[in-house]
Amino acid sequence: MSADLPPWRPLLRAARHREGRSPQARWLQLATVAADGSPRVRTLVFRGWAGGAALDLLTDGRSTKSAELRVQPQVELCWLLPKARCQFRLRGERQQLSPEAALAASQQHWQRLNPGARALWGWPQPGAPLEVGAPFPAELADGTPLPDAFELVRIEVKQVELLELTGHPHQRRRWRADQGWGEERLNP
Ligand SMILES: Cc1cc2nc3c(=O)[nH]c(=O)nc-3n(C[C@H](O)[C@H](O)[C@H](O)COP(=O)(O)O)c2cc1C
Repeated sequence: MSADLPPWRPLLRAARHREGRSPQARWLQLATVAADGSPRVRTLVFRGWAGGAALDLLTDGRSTKSAELRVQPQVELCWLLPKARCQFRLRGERQQLSPEAALAASQQHWQRLNPGARALWGWPQPGAPLEVGAPFPAELADGTPLPDAFELVRIEVKQVELLELTGHPHQRRRWRADQGWGEERLNP
């Protein structure tokens, strides 16, 4: 791992490592703000880092969160790593990628998904009323072109807070990008 990564990255990596092969190591909660100013939260899969302080999520461009992010790109992510007994809260903003960069990165993600994971983008619009008989494919084969609904959400992380419950008292730390990622210790 590169020496110029933000200091919270190795801590997050170690905490994720403690989860072993559990899929939970890749699950995080994404909070957005709806058009009426009220909060929304849901679980997403972490799809990888895109530089030192940016991470990729994948979603359906027809989903509610996608519309929310177009209006309000600021988000908070909450990543609970139960085996390490810690919680990371990542504040950030959705990055605006050029159409070319978004397409290239989306293609990469799309090709890396297995057919079962790809299938979700072949389903009808998320959140719309269920139509009896509508197709819900179980797989989309290798070679299926990138669907219009496939959306890459790249989050640029601007602040990280870590709460660790392992000792007494609990430890709480914060790092902010605009302060050069210097560590601040806070009351838990
Ligand atoms: C374990 C788990 C992982 C999920 N991963 C994703 C994901 O990577 N991308 C996604 O769009 N939805 C994912 N979902 C579904 C979302 O939580 C949510 O139900 C869906 O995206 C609709 O959200 P919205 O109506 O707020 O847009 C996941 C749900 C669970 C329980």
